[in-house]
Amino acid sequence: MKIGIGCDHGGYELKETIKEHLASKDIEVVDYGTYSKESVDYPVYGEKVANAVVAEEVDYGIVVCGTGLGISMAANKVKGIRAAVVSDCFSAEMSKAHNNANILALGERVVGKGLALKIVDTWLNTEFEGGRHANRVDKIIQIENKHYK
Ligand code: RB5
Repeated sequence: MKIGIGCDHGGYELKETIKEHLASKDIEVVDYGTYSKESVDYPVYGEKVANAVVAEEVDYGIVVCGTGLGISMAANKVKGIRAAVVSDCFSAEMSKAHNNANILALGERVVGKGLALKIVDTWLNTEFEGGRHANRVDKIIQIENKHYK
């Protein structure tokens, strides 16, 4: 599995922690920045990771900002992206099992490192259930197709 990861300055420390964690599990990670705590704009990094997911350069994306909100909003503007902001393990599981989220968004100022890593593991270890959930995800895609040319 190959994961694309990105953050702004507000998510830099947690991004680095997640990178180390994934590397320790022999999961390949592509880091789309930012690469320091210098102030940057989260949409840039949300879009970079989203583009990588849509282009299938990576299997999934993980994005981090202060809250997970701004960077997920930016990622969700890219056609084909379903980015879920998650702060608990149950939602992490459901976002994959039911919503087939292809990007996980986390807030460094919201969740501690321990919980964040559990969320990452839960999300990566959960499969999309398909079936009736596939019909619903298809309806999300239909909305996208209607609004994005
Ligand atoms: C940066 O201060 C902060 O606004 C950003 O990391 C994020 O929380 C935005 O949604």
